[in-house]
Amino acid sequence: MAIGNPIKQYRLVVPLFKITIRYLAEELAEDAQAGNEDKKTFHTGKLKLKIQRIKNGCIYVLVACGIYLNSDIFAPSLIRRVMGKAKMFKINSISTFANVLQNPHYTIPFMINDKGEEVDTKGKWRDLLFEGRPSLVLELACGKGDYALALGRKYPNKNFLGVDSKGARIYTGSKTAIDEQLTNVAFARMRIENITNFFAPGEVDEIWITFPDPFPKKGDAKRRLTAKSFLERYRTIAKPGAIVHFKTDDLPLFHFTKESVEENGLKLVYYKENIYASPLDFEELNIQTYYEKSHLANGRTINYLQFQL
Ligand SMILES: C[S@@+](CC[C@H](N)C(=O)[O-])C[C@H]1O[C@@H](n2cnc3c(N)ncnc32)[C@H](O)[C@@H]1O
Repeated sequence: MAIGNPIKQYRLVVPLFKITIRYLAEELAEDAQAGNEDKKTFHTGKLKLKIQRIKNGCIYVLVACGIYLNSDIFAPSLIRRVMGKAKMFKINSISTFANVLQNPHYTIPFMINDKGEEVDTKGKWRDLLFEGRPSLVLELACGKGDYALALGRKYPNKNFLGVDSKGARIYTGSKTAIDEQLTNVAFARMRIENITNFFAPGEVDEIWITFPDPFPKKGDAKRRLTAKSFLERYRTIAKPGAIVHFKTDDLPLFHFTKESVEENGLKLVYYKENIYASPLDFEELNIQTYYEKSHLANGRTINYLQFQL
């Protein structure tokens, strides 16, 4: 068996390994910076090696887990060192944007505005970000906020708030809203687990949940954004009968959501697998998010359901 030139292999493998570790470290550092992980999700004290399956089926030992542990301890200086300059620039930029409010850490019970002031947002989102205009539609797990932006362009009389914990993604949406002068589109950086801390009961008119992480492991089911505890949170902050739109490429998550809606006594209004196989029943469904485009490019099908709170 030809083994090949080890020096050539070394030259190829080492940069690839470095890029992979760098990428994973960045992702983990951003999670730490966003306060996205709590102590329950990993065991401090032990340097736990996390094994991840990467696309081609190879298994990499996730050395970055060590960096993650450290970043939690030495944050924010280590986070700054680990995270790429571009990402850090985006995260720093949104703290100066008037259309973004941020919860600095999931343990802190208030939001911060572009002037660094603490803001009480409960019952006040429309006055704080939307010139008092009525209605408030949320895009949860918004990433770059593709739905908030597209709906904002389409419905200038309604307000759209993208919610995500990752600052670099929110940067893309909020910068676009500023550039296009979309005064009815804004963003909130927070963990959705804490949403009831920041919205008054009945303050929200409608919710979109677009391509949330599927959390395929059974043990992670409670982290799915349509698990019982999340539905309860949505029911608290939304008006009775408010519509929730849910779009995903992940069929197990789609079926889980249908069951979760029914088990929790909510009304399933509409349910369709592979929405693009036939003409769309709702015009809004043709809005495609960043993740949706990538799933479609990989030949995956898109599913949509709608339920009432
Ligand atoms: C797969 S991405 C989808 C992004 C976007 N909706 C799209 O379709 O392009 C999932 C997003 O959910 C966010 N997210 C996941 N869990 C969250 C949580 N508990 N609170 C806030 N954001 C969360 C992540 O930061 C990420 O941006």
